[in-house]
Amino acid sequence: SRTVDRNEDGVATVGGLDVTRLAEEFGTPAYILDEDDFRARCRAWADAFGPGADVFYAGKAFLSRAVVRWLHEEGLNLDVCSGGELLTALDAGMPADRIAFHGNNKSLEEIERAVRAGVGRIVLDSFQEIARVAHVAQGLGVRQRVLIRITVGVEAHTHEFIATAHEDQKFGLPLAGGQAAEGVRRALGLDGLELIGLHSHIGSQIFDTSGFEVAAHRVVGLLQQVRDEHGVELPEIDLGGGLGIAYTPDDDPREPRHIAKALHEIVTRECENAGLRPPRISVEPGRAIVGPTAFTLYEVGTIKPLPGLRTYVSVDGGMSDNIRTALYDAEYSVSLVSRVSDAAPMLSRVVGKHCESGDIVVKDAFLPADLAPGDLLAVPATGAYCRSMASNYNHALRPPVVAVRDGAARVIVRRETEEDLLRLDVG
Ligand code: LLP
Repeated sequence: SRTVDRNEDGVATVGGLDVTRLAEEFGTPAYILDEDDFRARCRAWADAFGPGADVFYAGKAFLSRAVVRWLHEEGLNLDVCSGGELLTALDAGMPADRIAFHGNNKSLEEIERAVRAGVGRIVLDSFQEIARVAHVAQGLGVRQRVLIRITVGVEAHTHEFIATAHEDQKFGLPLAGGQAAEGVRRALGLDGLELIGLHSHIGSQIFDTSGFEVAAHRVVGLLQQVRDEHGVELPEIDLGGGLGIAYTPDDDPREPRHIAKALHEIVTRECENAGLRPPRISVEPGRAIVGPTAFTLYEVGTIKPLPGLRTYVSVDGGMSDNIRTALYDAEYSVSLVSRVSDAAPMLSRVVGKHCESGDIVVKDAFLPADLAPGDLLAVPATGAYCRSMASNYNHALRPPVVAVRDGAARVIVRRETEEDLLRLDVG
C-alpha cells in the first residue's frame, strides 16, 4: 500500500508533504488520503475489466463529494446503499444512469427518489421489494432497470459479520430452494421492471479468487435455468465487491487484473458449456480502491508500560474513528512518523481515548521504546470503512479527511466541531 514514504533524511512524507506539517495544519486525529493513489486504483480496475464490463465503486467504503467527482472523472460507476449516499452522489454530479442502488430494506421514499432520479439500476433484495419497486416505477410511468440479488451459498473465508453469501443471513434471495428463481419469475412478469440481470456479493476482505469462481458458476447456472424456463437470456451479472487489501505486511492481496481474468474465464467457459451468450460483468470494489489510499494520523497522549505484558499507548482517537478492530478483530500496523528513532522495539498496543477496554486501534505492534507523548503515529490502510463507520461515541468529534495531491493538501470532509455536536441536541 502506498501511504507514508520516508525521504532521504528519514522524514515521513505523503504526496511530497511532510506528515508533521500536516498534523500542525489540520490537527489530529485526521485521515490523510492520497488522491493520486485513489485515481490510479480506479484506473487499474477499469483497465483490468476493460470496456466490456462495468466497475461500480462501493460508496459505503467511503463517500464524499470529492470522491464522487474523482470517480466520475476516472470513468467509474457508483454503488450506493442508502438515500444519503444517493443524495451525495447526485449532489456531486454523478450521472444517475451510472448509479446502482442497493440495500435490503430500502424505504418507499428512497425507492421513489432513486426511480425519479433515473438511477441506472436498482438491486432488488426481497419479494416485497420486487413488488414495491415495480409499483413505484409504474406509478411514475417508467420501466426501472433492476437486478435481483441472490445468495449462492458460498462460504467466503472471512469474518462472519462480513461474509454475505451463505444462506443463513439477511441479504438476497437464496438460490437453494428456488426463491431466487421465483424472484426472477415475478420480476419478469411486472410492467414496471426491466430485469437486466442477477447480482451476487459473497463477502469482504477475500484473498482467494475461488469463492468468486464458485459464485460465478452458480449465477450462470441460474441464467441457464431462466433461459430454459422463460426463453429469456438476462444480459448482465454483477459479482459484487470483496477483494481484500493488505492491512499488515503479512497480507497478500490479488491484483484487479487477476480477479478480472479469473471472472472472465469462468463466465465465458460456463456460458459456452450452457450455450448462453456471455453476459456483461460488473463488479463493486470498495475497500480495494479506497482502503490503501489513506492512513490515520494520531498523536500519542499517554504511555503506560505494564511489566511482563505490554505497553499501552493511548492516542487522541480510537474506536470512534476506527471501529474495525473492535468489531471484526481487524489487524492494523502502525509506525512512528514524526521522527526517526533507533530505540529498541517495545511490544505495544495502540488504544484510543474511549471509555471501553475494547477501544483498541492496533492490537499488537512494536514501537520504539523511547516513544513519548506528542509523537505522531500513522495507521495505514484506513481509507475504507473507517470514516464511513465513524461515530460520535463519548461525544467524540469525527476527524477530517484531508486529500493530498501534487504537494498540496486540502480538506474534503471537515472535522466535526462542538457546534455540530450541540446543533443536533435540541432538547
Ligand atoms: N457490493 C455489495 C453489495 C456490498 O454489500 C459490499 C460491501 C461491497 C460491494 C463492497 O465490498 P468491498 O469491496 O469493500 O469489500 N464494514 C465492513 C465491510 C462490510 C461491507 C459491506 N458490503 C468492514 O469494515 O470490513
